[in-house]
Amino acid sequence: MLEGKAEEIIDRNFMRKFDRKVDLIFTSPPYPLNRKKKYGNFSGQEYVDWLCAFGPLFKSLLNPKGSIVIEMGNSWEKGSPVMSTLALKSLLEFLERNELHLCQEFVWNNPAKLPSPAQWVNIKRNRVKDSFTKIWWMSPVKDPKADNRNVLVEYSDSMKKLLKRGSYNSGKRISQHNIGEKSFLTDNNGAISGSVLTYGNTVSSDSYLKYCREKNITPHPARMPYKLAEFFIKFLTKPDDLVYDPFGGSNLTGFAAESLDRYWISTEASKEYILGSMGRFENIFS
Ligand SMILES: C[S@@+](CC[C@H](N)C(=O)[O-])C[C@H]1O[C@@H](n2cnc3c(N)ncnc32)[C@H](O)[C@@H]1O
Repeated sequence: MLEGKAEEIIDRNFMRKFDRKVDLIFTSPPYPLNRKKKYGNFSGQEYVDWLCAFGPLFKSLLNPKGSIVIEMGNSWEKGSPVMSTLALKSLLEFLERNELHLCQEFVWNNPAKLPSPAQWVNIKRNRVKDSFTKIWWMSPVKDPKADNRNVLVEYSDSMKKLLKRGSYNSGKRISQHNIGEKSFLTDNNGAISGSVLTYGNTVSSDSYLKYCREKNITPHPARMPYKLAEFFIKFLTKPDDLVYDPFGGSNLTGFAAESLDRYWISTEASKEYILGSMGRFENIFS
């Protein structure tokens, strides 16, 4: 994990000296905010321009069939129960200005998210919980490397029963679909995943938090769940591929890549977050 601003580290040519290209850039940049956070997020058009400027840098690092995956939360207008369109605008401009294709949009649904924005959700009760973030999978090519067989999900109970029974009513449905006799009887060891990914953010960082507590380090306040990084790393890369997270935070991406036998690089502006991230690797390297 390299300390410093991603734009400077990439631009210093440091990363281009590696003799291999990156297969997946998986990241969650600082969100556009109305108030400044500790790590100094930009706001408004300044944010859009800042994010877009990463496009050429990312593309210069990427394998021809590589992917860029950006997770971005919603933001709200200051003082009113109205959503800001800045996150959408940033993603759209990032895509268009950098001539990238939107391979697929995903949603990370986080049922464990605390109610927010509190003023409207808890006090005035005129909005519901803002409980998802957008994830945009982009690439310079229309058909980057990907394999949905690597991210199969458990079959539903009814599908499990059907597979056990080994038969179902074939023929024409009201929808006019013609269901063949055997179409649903092949056991593929799981169902094809949907694009809404539901993961709570409550588990898997116990040892990280313990480490931070012991070392008196402030834990990262915006950690994503392991499952989210795992999904995209397995879906879009193979073992020994290289994964890069420019806004590494607690280095969840690096930890997931390491656990899945991929190489990884992360950059992070805050030294404290880097020090904390070492807690993720205690069990791996000790
Ligand atoms: C949303 S957090 C990432 C959290 C991470 N996905 C995790 O699970 O721990 C964004 C991170 O980007 C870092 N950051 C902000 N500007 C940066 C920059 N220009 N270069 C590198 N890191 C930056 C912040 O310090 C923050 O830790």
